[in-house]
Amino acid sequence: MSSLHVVILAAGQGKRMHSDLPKVLHRLAGRPLLAHVLDTAKALNPAGLHVVYGHGGEQVRAQLERESVTWVAQPEQLGTGHALTQAMPGVPDEAIVLVLYADVPLVRASALEAVKASASAGKIGLLTAAVDAPDGYGRILRDGGGQVVGIVEHGDASPKQRAIREINTGIMALSAKRLRIWLERLRNDNRQGEYYLTDIIARAVEEGIEIETAFPDSLEDILGVNDRIELARLERIYQHRQAESLMRAGVSLSDPARLDVRGRVAAGRDVSIDVNVIMEGEVRIGDRVSIGPNCVLKDVEIGNDSEVFPYCILDSALVGAECRIGPYARIRPGTALADSVHIGNFVEVKASTIGAGSKANHLTYIGDADIGANVNVGAGTITCNYDGASKHRTVIGDGAFIGSGVELVAPITVHPGATIGAGSTISKDAPADKLTVSRGSQQTVKGWKRPKKS
Ligand code: UD1
Ligand code: CA
Repeated sequence: MSSLHVVILAAGQGKRMHSDLPKVLHRLAGRPLLAHVLDTAKALNPAGLHVVYGHGGEQVRAQLERESVTWVAQPEQLGTGHALTQAMPGVPDEAIVLVLYADVPLVRASALEAVKASASAGKIGLLTAAVDAPDGYGRILRDGGGQVVGIVEHGDASPKQRAIREINTGIMALSAKRLRIWLERLRNDNRQGEYYLTDIIARAVEEGIEIETAFPDSLEDILGVNDRIELARLERIYQHRQAESLMRAGVSLSDPARLDVRGRVAAGRDVSIDVNVIMEGEVRIGDRVSIGPNCVLKDVEIGNDSEVFPYCILDSALVGAECRIGPYARIRPGTALADSVHIGNFVEVKASTIGAGSKANHLTYIGDADIGANVNVGAGTITCNYDGASKHRTVIGDGAFIGSGVELVAPITVHPGATIGAGSTISKDAPADKLTVSRGSQQTVKGWKRPKKS
């Protein structure tokens, strides 16, 4: 079997984006368009993956430097045929070449498998579609017997050809050996003065090669991004697909149109997600978790039966089972909450571990702390973790009780079972199982009178 080499054409400027950013770096679901196409290509396990870049090339390479692809420069955009030619030195003769466009990000592997199969059978596999508004696209020309005989670009098409509704999606697969020969013979004597990849179709037909067309599962798969309106439309389509796949896997969404997934979500059974939730990066949610409205979850793992109430932001954190978070809580990077932890409203937790059954229910800052199990942190407690130069840790042992309005000046240890009186500023370690309090003693001033206006 011949090896598969995928070539992604990504050199176009994207004039209609009116942007300093190359079009292929504009984001769909939080990731560059090109990254989506790369994912689809990689799912086919190709022997070679080539990206033809041009406009803003250094930026493109820098943003996707971790991808193991062969970068091919096309300094001048002289057409799709010219673009593909640049990649061919890296493609062996016995390979099958699959051409993808970086600005067509929703195409799915199923459609690509079909065109690939045609190429494996010695034909040219071409992905086409019948659309209501074919303007701007290349049109598929067929003979009386229905065989494809060529593609004519919109600008070069006659009025009669322009009435054809079957369009070229641009995606095709074919033998590298023949492609190389046909590319060498391309000419640019057309309306746009470009080397059209599409011209090879008529060449192939002349040589008796059959063109086999395949259609995408959905017309949405082949939509391209040319301007920001189309980008926004594709974003909605993408999000709708994410929402549907979550629902299919057992997640209830209050409104599938009001969920945004910008990354990967793995959710258990009977999860419910309310409206306007944004999930970014890698999000893993256990069984029976409920997420309230207007939450942002980024790179988090949430254990079974936990509840996240409205308006919470969780970033790079681990949340155990049966926890209750929010409303209005902020869980920052490096936080690990054990099971049954309660984090209430206006509580911020950063780079801290909190043991099972511990609670911080109101108006608290916990930063750089290691808190044991069954600790109660009173309202308005602050870990003073920063001395202006460095961060220091606060350690609180199991079963400690921190009264309201306490400042814990780190580095500091509150030993297990200790009780800290409300309103204390604690700057020395507090012993186990004892009440520690630091506050001015209360007095009532005798004979004091409130001044009166004269
Ligand atoms: C192309 C097809 C057309 C098809 C349409 C589908 C040709 C000649 N025409 O037209 O039949 O209906 O796509 O969207 O192939 N690119 C480069 N270098 C270049 C030119 C383009 O890398 O020199 C890349 C672009 O970045 C883009 C893709 O190739 O990803 C398509 O280029 P574009 O200019 O959009 O082609 P169309 O004129 O739309
Ligand atoms: Ca285009």
